[in-house]
Amino acid sequence: MRIIAIANQKGGCGKTTTAVNLAASLASNNKKVLLIDLDPQAHATLGLNIKSDFNIYNVLSKLTPNKAKLAEIIQEVDANFDIAPSGIVLSALEQELAGEIGRESRLWETITDFRNNYDFILIDCPPNLGLLTINAIRATDEIIIPVEASKFAIVGIGQLIDIINLIRERLNHIVEYRILLVNFDSRLRHSFTMLDKIKSTFKNKLFSTIVHVNVKLKEAQNNGTHILNFDKYCRGSKDYFSLSREIIIEEEKDDKIKEPADALKEKMEKVLKEELPKFKLTEVSLLFAAPDAKQVYVVGDFNNWKLDESSLMNLENGSWSKKMSLLPGRYRYRFVMDGQWLEDPNNPSKAINPYGQMDSLIEI
Ligand SMILES: Nc1ncnc2c1ncn2[C@@H]1O[C@H](COP(=O)(O)OP(=O)(O)OP(=O)(O)O)[C@@H](O)[C@H]1O
Ligand SMILES: [Mg+2]
Repeated sequence: MRIIAIANQKGGCGKTTTAVNLAASLASNNKKVLLIDLDPQAHATLGLNIKSDFNIYNVLSKLTPNKAKLAEIIQEVDANFDIAPSGIVLSALEQELAGEIGRESRLWETITDFRNNYDFILIDCPPNLGLLTINAIRATDEIIIPVEASKFAIVGIGQLIDIINLIRERLNHIVEYRILLVNFDSRLRHSFTMLDKIKSTFKNKLFSTIVHVNVKLKEAQNNGTHILNFDKYCRGSKDYFSLSREIIIEEEKDDKIKEPADALKEKMEKVLKEELPKFKLTEVSLLFAAPDAKQVYVVGDFNNWKLDESSLMNLENGSWSKKMSLLPGRYRYRFVMDGQWLEDPNNPSKAINPYGQMDSLIEI
């Protein structure tokens, strides 16, 4: 029985795609799998077309009048593949837990009785390092960190490792972690340069399996299913199946290489230092005209879509503005005006998101 969290505070780096399709692939290897959707965005739940009035919030919250047991919310996705769904209400849990003793261990306490029911429990984490991710790390034996083959993808992994170290020190809980290269575009020479770099740096901390860019993975999600159901023979299916084999075979070997978190963090920082000075930060100013609005936020890939003080815009002469320093890259974003999510009316560059809405795009 193994518990594996898929975590990275960077938004949109393939966590949910990995959690859902790895779960389906492990299940197709005759392993009994439970996927816990621990993200209030509920992308795994929605992406598998699961509908439920009760979700993991009802299990983990002590304050809700609608308390449920884990067994009561679990639904079957496919043979051997169950899910504990999530919902937006889960976003209230962080605040509820904040003042409680043992707040980091709520999920661990909840799933500990389920250890014997499954071969694997996978946990899909939200894109931040808040209490939900901390609960996932506490509950887990292993973490898969999906990263893209880009120079900026590993920015922030040091922080994730700090949290893992903190949990080890405070709660005496040791977690193994591995890096999975995802969204690999074999048409780009740059991808191979990055692959060499990441390989030589992280060695056996990196899965041999590489997940390639494959539009079928997106299409499967938009069609409410996993990749093995959608197109069994596509590249995405092969990649996630190969990952599942690697994870299963690993179990049979007892020579798993353990490397202290500090050493890995040091290596990451070295790569970052080598790579980042070549790029300059570009100052960008986003504007939104809404003189009567009470509050306007700008959220996007650059701030992990986090709606908080840091994404609040400043009102000046009837126009809301926000200055940011960004690394080169392509960023999706939207404005949130008094609770209403809107595109940037002054930016013609847009892309559809999995929910059928338009995100505005900015390219640096
Ligand atoms: N290998 C891939 N090839 C093509 N598209 C991909 C691939 N992996 C993920 N995607 C797409 O990229 C988008 C983001 O992926 P995903 O939702 O898995 O990221 P995430 O890390 O879970 O995001 P969040 O941080 O919001 O939870 C999705 O639309 C998904 O379908
Ligand atoms: Mg996700």
